[in-house]
Amino acid sequence: MYRTFLILIAAYLVLAGGAVAIMLANGVFATRSDSADPAHIARGETVYMEHCAACHGGDLEGQPGWQNQRADGTYPAPPQDHSGHTWEHSDAQLFEYIRDGGARFERRAFKSAMPGLGEALDSAEIWAVIAFVKSRWPKEFRAKQARANFVGGLHNH
Ligand code: HEC
Repeated sequence: MYRTFLILIAAYLVLAGGAVAIMLANGVFATRSDSADPAHIARGETVYMEHCAACHGGDLEGQPGWQNQRADGTYPAPPQDHSGHTWEHSDAQLFEYIRDGGARFERRAFKSAMPGLGEALDSAEIWAVIAFVKSRWPKEFRAKQARANFVGGLHNH
């Protein structure tokens, strides 16, 4: 009885340790987009207006009908405000999507229309634009995203 208990505890520790190791490897504990620093946010706003607004909207509103797939397999650009699904993703996922674009997430029934901006933007600019986008969400959505951050994202795009 006591032995079974010890074995269960040991198994639990191994599993929990593995989960934490995976989260560390994904950088989910590292929030690098400080959405409280006004200078950082202002820089992100400039980046957003130059590189994102054309598709995601000057007011982060996205393109009309963003949830409906087009005949060619692409989707219109989703909002970046809290009405979209950006908050469901961890900082690390957002960073990668912006840097690499959506092509790596393409599946048979999905064609990405999001370009990778890793050539145009350095990583400080990408973190700044994430900080700007987050600064526009109501507090409760920032809290929800913080929880998504903790587990590495609620959805994989
Ligand atoms: C040419 C149009 C275009 C530009 C420019 C563009 N996007 Fe996108 N973006 C899209 C589309 C379309 C999607 C929907 C998914 C897909 O097609 O891959 C998307 C998806 C995303 C996603 C994943 C979905 C989500 O909301 O979590 C993020 C994050 C994102 N874009 C952020 C940005 C940011 C930040 C910039 C500017 C640095 C930017 N995009 C520039 C078209 C664009």
